[in-house]
Amino acid sequence: MAGTLTLAMIKPHAHFEKRVGKIIQRIEEAGFAVLSAKLTQLLPEGAMEFYEEHKDKPFYPNLVRTMSSGPIWALVLAKENAVDAWRETIGSTNPAEAKPGTIRYEFGDHQNITNNAVHGSSDDWAAKREINFFFGRDLRIAKLAAEALENQYNLSPRRS
Ligand code: RTP
Ligand code: MG
Repeated sequence: MAGTLTLAMIKPHAHFEKRVGKIIQRIEEAGFAVLSAKLTQLLPEGAMEFYEEHKDKPFYPNLVRTMSSGPIWALVLAKENAVDAWRETIGSTNPAEAKPGTIRYEFGDHQNITNNAVHGSSDDWAAKREINFFFGRDLRIAKLAAEALENQYNLSPRRS
């Protein structure tokens, strides 16, 4: 069964162009729930790790440079069949070839494929890896905090 989560990123150029609010509005209008969100910046080594699968492609150095050039928004999106639904919503990699109405057509740079507004996980395995990349540490800390509280106050999960 296809998973219900995917990882989206809003790319630096869209942040600098102040399109973030509009893109999140489009995400919600397309029926996704934003479960977690983080405004952050990738270091070059972080971008290299995130895009490891492309390390032998000619566009890899430019992709790493561009994705670490400014803030990005990492979002965990939830919807039935999330990976495919999000890729459908964003459209083709190249904004100039994306269907009108898709996010990449509307917010991407039609002269520059690297600046295609948003990222989307390619499959469920990648979604899990990418969600863990941005949010794994937060989840582990939240779990530790919950365990500490439970031990200190002898709390047990509520049963209704
Ligand atoms: P993404 O991973 O960002 O959601 O994009 P995608 O699956 O549609 O495309 P992918 O092949 O995974 O490429 C990752 C990102 O690299 C840039 N790219 N540049 N020919 C090129 O110069 C080229 N091809 C891809 C894009 O920014 C793409 O989003
Ligand atoms: Mg990809």
